[in-house]
Amino acid sequence: MRWLRAESSQPIALLHLVASFSEADALLRHLDDAAEGLDDSAAARLAALREFVDGHRSGIALVRRMGALHVRSENELPARGVAALRELYDELAALDPTAAVALYSFGDAGILSEATAEVVEYLRARAVVSPEVRMLDLGCGTGRLLEACAPRCRSVSGIDVSPRMVALAAARCLGLANASVTLGEGGDLRGFPDAAFDAVLAADSWPHVGSLGPEASLGLAREVARVLAPGGTFTLLNYSYRGDDAADAADVAALAESCGFTVVASGERPFALWDATAFRLPRAVGIP
Ligand SMILES: C[S@@+](CC[C@H](N)C(=O)[O-])C[C@H]1O[C@@H](n2cnc3c(N)ncnc32)[C@H](O)[C@@H]1O
Repeated sequence: MRWLRAESSQPIALLHLVASFSEADALLRHLDDAAEGLDDSAAARLAALREFVDGHRSGIALVRRMGALHVRSENELPARGVAALRELYDELAALDPTAAVALYSFGDAGILSEATAEVVEYLRARAVVSPEVRMLDLGCGTGRLLEACAPRCRSVSGIDVSPRMVALAAARCLGLANASVTLGEGGDLRGFPDAAFDAVLAADSWPHVGSLGPEASLGLAREVARVLAPGGTFTLLNYSYRGDDAADAADVAALAESCGFTVVASGERPFALWDATAFRLPRAVGIP
């Protein structure tokens, strides 16, 4: 178990386990069995995970329910297109907005805000967000990153295909003078002029774009290049969910080549809590 080897955070370890157990009690029994024969340090880590499981019973049930909705949507894609994604995220947001944007939060707002702080620090440390930056959050969900980045940017704009997500993000951004949220069609960024942004962020949304098929993915990446000012950066946090880092890196390199980006970070895992892979693609200066 990666948690015992200190290779993942507790929430991510639990997320991997949840898929294999029908409910929390079965998982707790499994952990009790696994404790036999462990050395003191491994036993202490297992005990901490056990406590975490016990404290997140309702979150575990929620994640199993949401997991089933994700599977249904995967089976419908790419045939049903954006409509399937819209329906999925409307349903997830109605169930629980916190877990909807990050299953690994198990609906726990404290876990999500810790993960949000790590993402914002990653972006800040690499000057992806800074006071002069106009940022677009592609697939903004409930707007947690818009809210966190707004005080650090000149402006933040969010776009999402789910009306329920857009409503939640708009409500969250109500008091923020430099923030706006738009309902999108999923395949383009119409409504945004050329070179309107200095940073485009896709935090856990590109795997869904990819599920629409390679043409949709290429089309939207071209749109990202169009709305980015020369030198602006496209940051992808998770390219796909297929668990093949080498294939993801190769696909991102090909996408970058087709759309006029360079690749300065490819598949790094910068976060302690969230296991996302990060790609940073500055738009080349001088492309048409
Ligand atoms: C896992 S959630 C992440 C939300 C947000 N980025 C965050 O990290 O809190 C993925 C979001 O991407 C949105 N989405 C999926 N495909 C999209 C597309 N083609 N265009 C815009 N938004 C999309 C979904 O509606 C959902 O709100």
